[in-house]
This record gives sequence, structure tokens and C-alpha cells, in this order.
Amino acid sequence: MARNVLFIPGDGIGPEVMGEARKVIEWLNAKRRTDIALTDAAMGLGEWKRTGSPMSDETIAAAKAADAVLFGAVGGDEEIPRKLRRERGLLALRRAMGLYANLRPVRAYEGLLDASSLKERVVRGVDMVVLRELSSGVYFGEPRGIETLPNGKRRAVDTQSYTEEEIERVARDAFLLARSRRGLLASVEKSNVMETGRLWRDVVTAMHAEYPDVTLRHVLSDNFAMQLIREPRQFDVVVTDNLFGDLLSDASAMIAGSLGMLPSASLGTADASGRRPALYEPVHGSAPDIAGKGIANPIAAILSVAMMLRHSFGLTADAELIEKAVEAALAEGARTADLYMQGGIQPLTTLGMGKAILAKLDTLAA
Ligand SMILES: NC(=O)c1ccc[n+]([C@@H]2O[C@H](COP(=O)([O-])OP(=O)(O)OC[C@H]3O[C@@H](n4cnc5c(N)ncnc54)[C@H](O)[C@@H]3O)[C@@H](O)[C@H]2O)c1
Repeated sequence: MARNVLFIPGDGIGPEVMGEARKVIEWLNAKRRTDIALTDAAMGLGEWKRTGSPMSDETIAAAKAADAVLFGAVGGDEEIPRKLRRERGLLALRRAMGLYANLRPVRAYEGLLDASSLKERVVRGVDMVVLRELSSGVYFGEPRGIETLPNGKRRAVDTQSYTEEEIERVARDAFLLARSRRGLLASVEKSNVMETGRLWRDVVTAMHAEYPDVTLRHVLSDNFAMQLIREPRQFDVVVTDNLFGDLLSDASAMIAGSLGMLPSASLGTADASGRRPALYEPVHGSAPDIAGKGIANPIAAILSVAMMLRHSFGLTADAELIEKAVEAALAEGARTADLYMQGGIQPLTTLGMGKAILAKLDTLAA
């Protein structure tokens, strides 16, 4: 039976990088019989300008019905009104699909060590995944708002809130992920000063009894930030809340050298048939500064396809094939302009990088 994937290129460089992701899927269908059926949908600024709404009810329904969603990026030169964005933007789609676990793998590719802002000896061999809780915490907690005090000055309030269930479900994913990798889990919170941190640590500690094969470490978030820059190789799977995850996954991302390299997955709760709602997207945005120039790096979008194969379809060998093809192309010197370039190397276009990866797929699959 076909695997149904809703394909949303979005705005800016979204359609450019997703064009290369589509070619990889077409290659997989032709050569590996992955039977992935893509259905196109529009979302974002372009859709808002065309219809007055950045996302239609049909798109939300199609995303919920699909086996997975592949998403490019949205946004651009104009701002969609805040209220409409909250109701019809990416956050709304994530909420409608019940996505609570955001996975961001970070790898330092041997061929790209010079692209990192950290020293080669620090980043060489880094291979970690940050698992960020996506649906709760301070970004959603109530009460929130800005009020005017009797003295005429304003006061702003945000509320950090987590239930045991919310911590448990993301921690379970983290233990299972660690089990499928090197068996190391770092749980990051700030239990020395935050009540949510205390509960987070309690829940994760209690769950550890179910996963004795996983080595669990609790790390305070400020210490984690320091350790990440000092010695990132010590980490395998990292689980943390929405706010810390937002900051720390961006910081981790830079180890790999460029935003254009980083894929992500957002997963929800499995239904009765075992299917998990899932959305895969590059970490980067629509990059209006380079949109339309054909120079965006398509690797994050292509690696998002690999994540989809692994997490939604259990096609591990095909996922690894894509990752190896990317690695091989980089090792041979394929570089888009965002990747650090040693004198004289001509940068590839988006199409050129896609072509280099497809050529490696052909070689590896031969
Ligand atoms: N998930 C999303 O759709 C998403 C995420 C972040 C930002 N945005 C939106 O994107 C727009 C631009 O935001 P921003 O500039 O802060 O972030 P951005 O990620 O779009 O760009 C940041 C910088 O990185 C570069 N860059 C990003 N992706 C690249 C790629 N694949 N190849 C080469 N260079 C790349 C850009 O040229 C830019 O200089 C805004 O409208 C923002 O709201 C959307």
C-alpha cells in the first residue's frame, strides 16, 4: 500500500530545497520501491496573499490524514497578522497534529569540520540528537500577558507548566531513542531553581527503572550549555523542555556548520493502528535573503526525507543510504555557498548539490 505523504514546500527557499527532496523521493520510488505518494499542498505567505489565509481547513485535514508531512519553510518579506499566524501557521499545524516531540539530530561530518565555528578537535565525531518537548511549557502556559500596574508601569507574565504525563511521553521517546543508539541519555532541566525542573527530574528518574540498559545523566541547563561547547562528543540523546530545547538545539546545530545542514522531525502519539502523526522539515526558515537565487543548500530538506524513512516508515536501510550519499558528496568536496569554502572551490547551486547527492545514491545502490 502506498505511503501517503503531504508535501508542503511553502515560501522562499522552501520550494527550491524541497524540489531536490522530491527528486530523492522519486529516485527511491524508482530504485528502492519505497512507494511514496506525494500530495502537494500550499501554506504560508504566498497562500495568505492568494487566499487571505495561510493554511486552509483542507490542508489541516490532509496533514492529519497523511502518513507523514514533509514541510519546507514559511515566511518572507511581509508579516502575516500575528493572530492569523497563531491560528493558521506552523504552530497551529503542529497543534492540530498533536506533535509533542521534536527531534533534531546533529552530526559533524568529517568533510565539513572546517565549517563549524568550533575547533575541529572539539567537533570531530559529534553525533547527537536533541529531543525537545514541543507542545507545552512556557510557550503555552497560562496565565500569560502584559498588564498595567497601579503605578502605570507594565508587568509581563509567562507561565512555565508541565504535567507528569507531558514529561513522561517525551521522556519515553528519549529512553527508546537512546536504546536504539549509544544508550546514553542526558535529561536537561533546572531543578535547582524551578519547580517544573524538580518534577521533570523526578519523573525521568522514576522511568529509568524501565530502561536499566540506558545510562541516564541529569544535567542542569546552564551546565549543559557550557558542556556542549566544551566537549559535545559526550552527548548521545538529550531530552529537555520546550524553552531550553529551543535554545540548546539551535546552539547544538551550529556544531554541524550551517543551518542548511539540519533536518528535524516532530512526532505525536501513535493511534490504534500504531501510526504516529509526523512532520519532517529542515530547521532553517525561508531565507528571503537568498530566495530565488538557486543557491540554497538542499541537504537539510534531503536529510528530512531520511528522517521520515526511519521514523515513519521503518525504512532504516534507505535512510542510511541517503545519509551516506550526503556524506560521500561532502567528502568529495561538494559545497553550497553557505558551507565554508577553502579558496578556489566553486560553490554548487541548489540543483548542483541535489545532482551530486543523486549521483552518490546511484553509486552506492549499484
Ligand atoms: N519552520 C519555518 O518555516 C521557519 C523557521 C525559521 C524561520 N522562518 C521564517 O523564515 C524567514 C526568515 O527567517 P530567518 O532569516 O530568521 O531564518 P532563516 O533560517 O530563513 O535564515 C537565516 C540565515 O541562514 C541562511 N540560510 C537558511 N537556510 C539556508 C539554506 N538552506 N542554505 C543556505 N543558507 C541558508 C539564510 O540565507 C539567512 O542568512 C522569517 O519569515 C521567519 O519567520 C520559518
